[in-house]
Parts: sequence; structure tokens; C-alpha cells
Amino acid sequence: MTDLTDFISGLPKCELHLHIEGTLEPELKFALAARNNVTLPYADADEMRAGYVFHDLPSFLACYYEGMSVLLTEADFYDLAWAYLAKAQAQNVRYAEIFFDPQAHTSRGVSFDTVIRGLRRAVMDAHRLLDVRAQLIMCFMRDLSAGFAMATLLESLPYREWIVGVGLDSDERDNPPVKFAAVFARARAEGYQLTMHCDLDQENSVDHIRQCLDVIGVDRIDHGVNCLESEELQTEIKARGLGLTVCPVSNGYVRGSAWQDAVRQLLDRGLRVTVSSDDPAYMDGYVTENLLAVQATTPLSAAELVQLQRNAFEAAWLPAAVKDVCLAELDAYAGR
Ligand code: ADE
Ligand code: ZN
Repeated sequence: MTDLTDFISGLPKCELHLHIEGTLEPELKFALAARNNVTLPYADADEMRAGYVFHDLPSFLACYYEGMSVLLTEADFYDLAWAYLAKAQAQNVRYAEIFFDPQAHTSRGVSFDTVIRGLRRAVMDAHRLLDVRAQLIMCFMRDLSAGFAMATLLESLPYREWIVGVGLDSDERDNPPVKFAAVFARARAEGYQLTMHCDLDQENSVDHIRQCLDVIGVDRIDHGVNCLESEELQTEIKARGLGLTVCPVSNGYVRGSAWQDAVRQLLDRGLRVTVSSDDPAYMDGYVTENLLAVQATTPLSAAELVQLQRNAFEAAWLPAAVKDVCLAELDAYAGR
């Protein structure tokens, strides 16, 4: 078997499933804590990493939300996003769509304006100084009320041009897509693109994916691996050309080896599967490491690795002309 590690390193990449708060590395957490006079319950970064023990989605989310206490000022959000974008450049990510969780901050007294201004400035600087493109996706937290989500959507409208779409994340249990039908209908009316998490092996996973298609009318699905349990869903997702943003390392944390062949299966069935990193600072794997994790269990050919990136650029919420530039760069790399 050819070792494709170098090929993966150089591959022009597109990341579509990345929570910016999930890129907060322990070292930056300590630096921001010092700047903001926040006391952390760990002596140092190593001890903090050792404390990251989770075995399912809720135990991960508890750790993830706790980690945000150091994010207080516009500069903090800038530094967070800039650190990710610099890492992305080092891994030849050419374009990233970045989730942020405003409610996790506004509920702590940090204003929406503070969050978005910091993130937006980093996105602009990354394009100018790093030649990395990015756009922001605002996620609603599904374990909070639909009313709070709607209020957050309305709060976002003055910044509409800085946000390409909306998503739905956090704990899926007892929080189905239909709970947010009115919020997503309004988001659509405001011109936002729509995506939603359909996490692995949730209660009613298949039904939740069905709701995303029939009730919400999503433009993409985050994770969505359980569509492999329904031929009908696969046919519909394929017919609509929807991207599925799969995160292999994260899935391993949440579901062990249960779905480690998901990327292989989705590719074989001709679905528009992509590979992303979800919460890399907590799960020890940016996009390159996620591709290598797939290689370690279900090796892909060079052509299939290129196909994953082609899928991602095609599923991206970019103007056609920009997509064409990205795809041409990918083709040039593939044909070298
Ligand atoms: N928020 C951050 N990461 C998440 C994930 N993997 N699933 C749901 N919500 C999240
Ligand atoms: Zn996610």
C-alpha cells in the first residue's frame, strides 16, 4: 500500500465542520485566563489535557462549555480564530466554514457584538495575510429554548453579511430538528444557508435526518452517518446533492469504533461525504489528522482523498466563481 501521508499533507483542503470554540487549545486558554484574571481549575496545559476525559456527547459538551469561561473580549475571539486559521494554513486548508455558538457567550454576559467582531476581524485578516478563506456559521444550541434561538437569530440580523448560514448543535437528546422549525424558516427567509447536526446513534437519529429533509429543508447535514441505516434517506440525500460533514476522530470519541468505516461506506454509495475536525483542541486532531485516521482504518486511494475535497468544495457555501478557483487548484494538485 502506498504511503499517502505526504499526499494528504499537501492536499488543498476544505473544512466544513469546525466549532471555533472547539479549537481553544489549553495553552491559549491559559494565556487568555492570565489576561482576563480568570482562575482555571488546572495547574498547567498538560494537566488540563489529562482532564479531558469524555466518552459520549454530553460528557464532551460539559468540558467544552466550561472551557469558554476565558473568552471575554473581542481580542479573545480574535486570538481564538486567528490561532485556528494559522493552523489551517499550515495544513493547507484553502477554505473553512467556521461554526460559532453565540448563546454560549451571551448567556455568560458577553455581547453578540463582541463575539462576532473578534471572529470577523480574524477571518478578514486570514484572507489578507494567510491567503486562507473562511466564512462564519452561527449555531443555535438545541438544548436551549426555541425562543432563545429566535432571539439570537434576530440579534444576528445587523451582522447578516458577516454570517453565511445557521446550524444547530449541542445535545441532541430530546431536542429534534422540528423544535426549531420556525427559527430555521425565518433564517431561510433572511437568506441564511441551513445546516444541522445529526449526531451519531442518537435516539431517533434516522427520524431526525428525515426531519432535516422534510421539515427544515437543510442545505447540508453535519455528521448524518446514520443515513447508512436507511436506503430511502440515502436516495433522497443523493438526489438533493447534500453534503455530509463527517468528523472521524470526534466520532471515535463519541462512539468508539462503531462507525469507523463510515467515510468508506458513504463514498462507496456515492454520497457527498466530506471530512472535518469538529473540536480539534479537545480531540487531538485537525483536518490532516482526521484524514490520517481514516487512512489508518479504511485506507483510501489518492483519487478518493481528492474526491473528499472535491465533495467539500462543491458543498461549500461559496460563490460559483470562487468554487471554480478552489476546484482548479485541487485538480492541479491531483494531476501533478
Ligand atoms: N458542539 C461542539 N461540538 C459538537 C458536536 N460534536 N456535536 C454537537 N454539538 C457540538
Ligand atoms: Zn460538530
